[in-house]
Amino acid sequence: MKSVIYITRKIPDALLRPYQDSFTFRMWDKENVPVPRDVLLREVAAADGVLCLITESIDREFLAAAQHLKIVANMAVGYDNIDVDAAREHGVVVTNTPDVLTETTADLTFALMMATARRIVEAADYIREGKWDYWAPYLLAGSDIHDKTIGIVGMGRIGEAVARRAKGFGMSILYHNRSRKNHAEQELGAFYSDFPELLQEADFVVSLVPLTEQTSEIFNQDAFKQMKSSAVFVNVSRGGTVDEQALYEALTSREIRAAGLDVFTNEPISPEHPLLGLDNVVCLPHIGSASAATRTSMIELCFDNLQAVMNGERVITPVN
Ligand code: GLV
Ligand code: GLV
Repeated sequence: MKSVIYITRKIPDALLRPYQDSFTFRMWDKENVPVPRDVLLREVAAADGVLCLITESIDREFLAAAQHLKIVANMAVGYDNIDVDAAREHGVVVTNTPDVLTETTADLTFALMMATARRIVEAADYIREGKWDYWAPYLLAGSDIHDKTIGIVGMGRIGEAVARRAKGFGMSILYHNRSRKNHAEQELGAFYSDFPELLQEADFVVSLVPLTEQTSEIFNQDAFKQMKSSAVFVNVSRGGTVDEQALYEALTSREIRAAGLDVFTNEPISPEHPLLGLDNVVCLPHIGSASAATRTSMIELCFDNLQAVMNGERVITPVN
């Protein structure tokens, strides 16, 4: 009998075709709307495997609804949407999608750093709004990226890929991480710093740290106070690493200069979100890994993990 795989979002049929012989697919039929919770709980009861997104909370209630679930393949590198301990207790394997999105996410991180520092969105809007009358010496003058100091908080694969880009820009590289990264220190000249020192020294403070109990709101009022008044804060990990109210206050009181944010505490944010009202903030709708090629690779990696479990083989990218 074919294994039943539930996919929590509509993905292109062409990606399903290679697996049609081994799997019976069931799929939520909307691309831009998450599956309702009651539908998800009903579907998981019949599933051997689930391909889910970060919009799904894989918690004890979900696991209790499952009857013969073997694997949850999360289409993301971060898995704070999943209760990994509970999954382990239920004997459910959890996989994520590292590696395939590393370079794409590092590209976006750099794009957001540059867009924020050089006021790219504000400048593009300036023309659209009919404000461009003259060239002027300090018109939309921002801050430089080259030769500055970047402070990377969370030196995983993406952190290292950002550091490689930073090296090309002649930046000094500081990083903070649970463990030392000898490779990055030797190859890229990155310096390990403790968290306060990084906050004090960096011109760009970049959050690439996974959201855990330990990293919840590490960017709080105290952290922003320690940063330079010229600092640019960039978050491409999870909104939960930031106290958004403290960030708002740091920006409005000019304790820091600007922020580039791809992620938020509660997503999606509405157009009324206070941070959107600030000129010195660039907000993006969580598109770190969003190149078409990389999103396809992430889905394919999920399928390869699902296939491995169904064949009784080792999964490629386990998290538990
Ligand atoms: C996206 O946020 C991911 O974790 O891959
Ligand atoms: C600006 O356009 C310059 O030529 O410096």
